[in-house]
Amino acid sequence: MRTLEKGKLLVASHNQGKIKEMIDLLGPFGFEVVSAGDLGLPEPDETGMTFEQNAYIKAFAAAKATGLVALSDDSGLCVDALGGDPGVYTANWAELPGGKRDFAFGMQKVEKALQDKGAIRPKDRSGRFVSVICLAWPDGEANYYRGEVEGEIVWPPRGTAGFGYDPVFKPEGYDATFGEMTAEQKHGWKPGDTDALSHRARAFQHFARDCLDAG
Ligand code: IMP
Repeated sequence: MRTLEKGKLLVASHNQGKIKEMIDLLGPFGFEVVSAGDLGLPEPDETGMTFEQNAYIKAFAAAKATGLVALSDDSGLCVDALGGDPGVYTANWAELPGGKRDFAFGMQKVEKALQDKGAIRPKDRSGRFVSVICLAWPDGEANYYRGEVEGEIVWPPRGTAGFGYDPVFKPEGYDATFGEMTAEQKHGWKPGDTDALSHRARAFQHFARDCLDAG
């Protein structure tokens, strides 16, 4: 596994919600963080069939364009009653005709698909958020880290915190949705802490233990 030197680290994302969470998670490690959005890099097409493939597409495109080591996240919501959908297409499910993303629309689409399946009882509405973090070097080498959090899809949406599908996801063992949690409750994690909660924080925890020598 290739090790990571301290210095400038490029977060290969244009999604402000994800960038904020990655900056929070990278905070204790003393990197100089820049994002692909800040540098005006183009957003590559996510043509992969898996979270790993799409995470690599994003991280490698950014690393190659800048010569910096790049960290990406590809993530999504996988609902059991929908055969794992929307999965890698989670962002696409929120696209309005014309291409603009509206996550209220995406959440409604998931709810309609669940209703069409007759998935009304909480036990029929299980799913998980998945995050794959990819660390890619300009020469094409890459490391991967996966995090998942089990939960249930609730309706109507609850809470205004976070981003994307947070208001309809209630993690197992909690009464609140991600949309009702503080940033600290959802993705807070630093070296020495016990397990993180969110999929992204769990993937990050693997990355930090492997590459940053964090406990
Ligand atoms: P992608 O990784 O760019 O393909 O986008 C994944 C999509 O999944 C995002 O646009 C969000 O809508 C959704 N998503 C991923 N992680 C989260 C999360 O932590 N909370 C809410 N929605 C998320």
